[in-house]
Amino acid sequence: MALTISIGSGKGGVGKTMILANLAMLLARSGRRVCLVDLDIGGPDAHYLFGLLEPKRSLSDFLARRVENINEVIHTLYSYSGLSLIPGTGDTLQTANMSFQEKQRLLRSLGTIDTDVLLLDVGAGTSYHALDFFMHSDLQIGLTLPEPTAIMDLYNFLQLATIRKVLSGFLSGSEVAEALKNQRFNSLQEVLELAATSQEDGRQRAQNSLRSFHPLLIINRDSTTAQVNKLKLRRLVAKYLAIDMPELGEIPEDPMVSEALKAFIPVCELYPNCPAARSLVGISDKLGKIIDLFQRHLQTNHQG
Ligand SMILES: Nc1ncnc2c1ncn2[C@@H]1O[C@H](COP(=O)(O)OP(=O)(O)O)[C@@H](O)[C@H]1O
Ligand SMILES: [Mg+2]
Repeated sequence: MALTISIGSGKGGVGKTMILANLAMLLARSGRRVCLVDLDIGGPDAHYLFGLLEPKRSLSDFLARRVENINEVIHTLYSYSGLSLIPGTGDTLQTANMSFQEKQRLLRSLGTIDTDVLLLDVGAGTSYHALDFFMHSDLQIGLTLPEPTAIMDLYNFLQLATIRKVLSGFLSGSEVAEALKNQRFNSLQEVLELAATSQEDGRQRAQNSLRSFHPLLIINRDSTTAQVNKLKLRRLVAKYLAIDMPELGEIPEDPMVSEALKAFIPVCELYPNCPAARSLVGISDKLGKIIDLFQRHLQTNHQG
């Protein structure tokens, strides 16, 4: 089964798609089969980064049931060996009101894709879709710019994601669960208290559901203040969310990024020696090692 990795951020325009597209290409180059899925509902643009300007089929066709099998909306990117892409869908009534069942159908079908790594671009913001897609994966990447406001936006995103994960952890399947999942909570603590009062082992189950959540941090458009703000973020998530956030890397501000965008070619392909591309290669190597470890771990668990 494929290993699923998602990238999320508090706000849009911080570089999620640019980074994921480059990581997809680099991971494929290192011999893995990679499928990039554009789940940025409302702002799908991953296909542009590979010069696919008018995809014949997209996620819209799958969601509207014009095709039943998700494989029919996968595009093989022949210029990049091992790489394929599912172009995203615009914001339509269909997607805005996607029901629980429809979302389950989508997530289930993603699990059937024959590939080594699935990369999910979940789109910005704290809509339930974004949070659910983000938490659905085996590994998560949290992306932010170095400024304090952007850091707080990411913190907020991570907090809402953990709350949603915890709620589904201790109330799985029940009707109350669905009702509660759509309620706004102000903090993770509130949810843990609710868990403790609603079920005997509620708090334990709630905390267990976060055990495997260690979002990896990437700072984009790096600056000299980044170090201080990064530390603050890690302290916040450790104190209030009880999770640690290992760092995957930093990417500098680099004009070649938008030059590559204009050419519809990933920057690591077009300008492999520019500073942003070199950082992305470092991040991809590190991520590759984590993927290998994870897959070995999964195999051992399957055998044992
Ligand atoms: N490291 C960088 N240096 C310069 N420009 C960047 C960098 N990262 C992203 N950008 C620019 O920021 C814009 C938003 O990037 P994008 O990947 O579309 O963000 P998101 O998917 O988070 O909305 C793009 O125009 C891109 O060229
Ligand atoms: Mg994007």
